[in-house]
Amino acid sequence: MCGIVGYVGKQQAAPILLDGLAKLEYRGYDSAGIAVYNEKENKIDIVKAKGRLQALRDLTGDGQSVQGNIGIGHTRWATHGEPSVVNSHPHFNKDKSISIVHNGIIENYQPLKEKMQSRGLEFISQTDTEVVVHMLEHYYSGDPISAIIKVMHRVKGSYALGIMFKEHPGELYAVRKDSPLIVGTSAEGNFIASDVPAILKHTRDVYFIDNLEIAKITENSIEFFNEDREPIEKEMTTVKWDIEAAEKGGYEHFMLKEIYEQPKVVADTITPRIDNGKIVLNELNMSDEEIKGINRIYIIGCGSAYHVGLSAKYMIEETVRIPVDVDLASEFRYRNPIMDSNSLAIIISQSGETADSLAALREIKSRGIKVLGIVNVVGSSIAREADNVLYTWAGPEIAVATTKAYSTQLVACYMLGIHFAKVRGQIDDTQYDEMVNELNALPNKIQRILGDKERIQWFASKYSAAKDVFFIGRGQDYATSMEGSLKLKEISYIHSEAYAAGELKHGSISLIEDGTLSVALATQPALYEKMISNIVEVRSRGSYVFALTTEGNYNMEDTSDFTVYVPKTLPCFSTSLAVIPLQLFGYYVALAKGCDVDKPRNLAKSVTVE
Ligand code: M6R
Repeated sequence: MCGIVGYVGKQQAAPILLDGLAKLEYRGYDSAGIAVYNEKENKIDIVKAKGRLQALRDLTGDGQSVQGNIGIGHTRWATHGEPSVVNSHPHFNKDKSISIVHNGIIENYQPLKEKMQSRGLEFISQTDTEVVVHMLEHYYSGDPISAIIKVMHRVKGSYALGIMFKEHPGELYAVRKDSPLIVGTSAEGNFIASDVPAILKHTRDVYFIDNLEIAKITENSIEFFNEDREPIEKEMTTVKWDIEAAEKGGYEHFMLKEIYEQPKVVADTITPRIDNGKIVLNELNMSDEEIKGINRIYIIGCGSAYHVGLSAKYMIEETVRIPVDVDLASEFRYRNPIMDSNSLAIIISQSGETADSLAALREIKSRGIKVLGIVNVVGSSIAREADNVLYTWAGPEIAVATTKAYSTQLVACYMLGIHFAKVRGQIDDTQYDEMVNELNALPNKIQRILGDKERIQWFASKYSAAKDVFFIGRGQDYATSMEGSLKLKEISYIHSEAYAAGELKHGSISLIEDGTLSVALATQPALYEKMISNIVEVRSRGSYVFALTTEGNYNMEDTSDFTVYVPKTLPCFSTSLAVIPLQLFGYYVALAKGCDVDKPRNLAKSVTVE
């Protein structure tokens, strides 16, 4: 929800903090601030600004006006208290001798705050975070770590904290529980950050801080402690992402860049797992016997990750013949689900930090059921807590609206499906080879669709004033419709719904009136004629129809107003291709409306709180 960065080293801290925050703006962008220790004056300087990071850059001359070599920074996505200077981070105690940045939610802040207020302490912000800095002051008697541990034992909720004590000028402290935080190390100094892109310019060598662990960082040393103050040895990881992956690289928006990266990242996710025409999924750590013993698969995620699960259900049930339940993590975690003990649960998450998905994972593990994570961010909480992880190799995804991570999650599920189907004897060698060949062909087919973007761009600009858009489809196309509808609404703010086309006449068709735009997906050969009937139904009630179908289905033009074709593929892989024009449509509508495509209002990339 918020982004944290910290630096201690030889360089001036403020410009480094601002650069790092720029890479974390996807996590929150309603205000930002930095705190830097000023050695000459022996004080912590704090500068904060409401609005985008640029406001803070302007206020500090890109950080040049703030002196000092150690500091912490924060970009905020407001939860407690409106976006304002006073509510923005860093927060500080009365004499500004302690300063903190926080990502997460302190759930019991209200009683803690009331207790402190009853003792006469004044709070200046409406945030849950401020309580932490006052508690640190309360418990501090010269030893930062013991104060931090005492606070850890009193607060409930989630937190990643960056902390500075004026009395310990060369030291930076970090601690986390259920919110991400990493430590980076380089010759020019050491860093903390919510996510790797914030420090990629300086280093790819990182340590992952685990839950309830504390890091003490100086220019030349990094130490880790557990909540009993015992030192912990940690292994350093070298992240493979390169700096270009976290830059716009000439594209107007990260979203467009990420849409265009899809052929590459889909290939990156598939290719290393195919050896001599055979799918090799060593990461699963599952014997053939275990795979044969699975009675049921549960797929759980939020937002687009949930939509991947819906598409995967069609593919897996059809190919593997195992029943698949797909759940929204926020629903699953509270409904006390009845689970088959011989089952496999799959948690899908780009960030690996989504609070509801993480809670669902823990719920499943507590029932003794094996969890497979399909995760993009290496070392994230879901990746670490799952029994096994199938990493998607999408690279850093910065735009709030997911595109390339979604596409890599899909192919990861397809690979799982094909592998399981083979092991369980549901497909023969010929079918297996056909599926693997078709899987390998997807990146080129995605590339071909991207080559035809102008028509979609033209159509999107024509329909950017639409008030309501309906996405309809059957079978796998229904799952794709849900993702297309989400893409459009989250970045263009146009109201949009996805309906199973067969359901229209049970209520929602009454919403169709003259000029309503319907996006109709018809890529499933077995359901094509039925979709034609549905299109005729909405069109005869005045709807304008944008049809999305497979090359060869040229009679669609007799029934629709605007038709986009995607290359032929196996029907079970259709989402991988059909989603591409829908991503482009959402992007170009938002662009035509002048929306902030990469940072849509009210949203953050990674939802680490409930
Ligand atoms: O990081 P995750 O994959 O767990 O995130 C899940 C959703 O928050 C995410 O897919 C969200 O729906 C996207 N903004 C959709 O574009």
